[in-house]
Amino acid sequence: MNAWKVLVTAPLPERLRSRLESRVQVKARANIAESQFALELADCDALICQLSEMLTASVLQSSPRLKVIANVAVGYDNIDVEVADSASILVANTPGVLDETTADLAFALLLACARRVSESDRFVRAGAWTGWTPDLMLGTDVFGKTLGIVGLGRIGKAVARRAAGFSMPVVYTTGVTDTAGATLPPELSHCRKVGFAQLLSEADFVSINCPLNKKTRHLIAAAELASMKRSAILINTARGAIIDEGALVSALENGIIAGAGLDVFENEPSVPDKLRQMDNVVLTPHTGSATVETRGKMAELAVEAVLAVAEQRLPPNAVNPQVWPRLMQRLV
Ligand code: GLV
Repeated sequence: MNAWKVLVTAPLPERLRSRLESRVQVKARANIAESQFALELADCDALICQLSEMLTASVLQSSPRLKVIANVAVGYDNIDVEVADSASILVANTPGVLDETTADLAFALLLACARRVSESDRFVRAGAWTGWTPDLMLGTDVFGKTLGIVGLGRIGKAVARRAAGFSMPVVYTTGVTDTAGATLPPELSHCRKVGFAQLLSEADFVSINCPLNKKTRHLIAAAELASMKRSAILINTARGAIIDEGALVSALENGIIAGAGLDVFENEPSVPDKLRQMDNVVLTPHTGSATVETRGKMAELAVEAVLAVAEQRLPPNAVNPQVWPRLMQRLV
């Protein structure tokens, strides 16, 4: 067994836990307060954590033994990667394995909003249904409507593929991480690249599929909401802070847009009361990748990343591979 000690704060399936325990020492903890993180990391070489844990500059700077952080998530906005870089700490995430699952939830929210599924469910359960009427729970068509995808990365593309099945033309924007000018594969021939302003004004549904970073924080605020169609429905399965939540509440209250399907929020797990009371909003608790299969694959990527570094191999899912030469000096 390697002399490495790994702090594990994310739940791991038994087979992965055993695999990890056969190679390194494991210290399992749950619900560590931010103020206690550095203390728990003091004797650890690696951390397997989850997106709800904030690995701030001060935590990282107070954890001199730490060499690798494997976040069991594709997003890593909970980790100060710049500080990790300067401390020669490798950060790994879980790309590629959750695209289809997250796209499924984006589409589930889109359909639920358009066809008032959650509202209808509450209505039937409440015993309010007294008989069939032709105008009961009228929604809006999905088939043939225009879908705007903000961020045609891996998850955005998976959302776009689903849109093809609903004959939805797709307008999209790409971020800095997307390959500029890359030709799209034939299955995405229904997708057309446009400017952000055009996307907002043309789309019937807008799906947010970009990462949260300095550039995308509050990308959708009051002005952007005002430029959308009044009939538009906004779907967010990325990160809450990409949308200015206060502005969204006000836009929904004032009929500036028609509805929203939200899996992510600015201050999770807190959700504004007003949103919880709106019938034109469908809310899920940040469960975009929450299937047994996908969460297993994510945990596996995280475990393999830590084991790779412990064995002095650069894992393929490093988000800051440039630290590797400096980290190697710490490893030998
Ligand atoms: C989930 O939100 C993730 O980033 O994996």
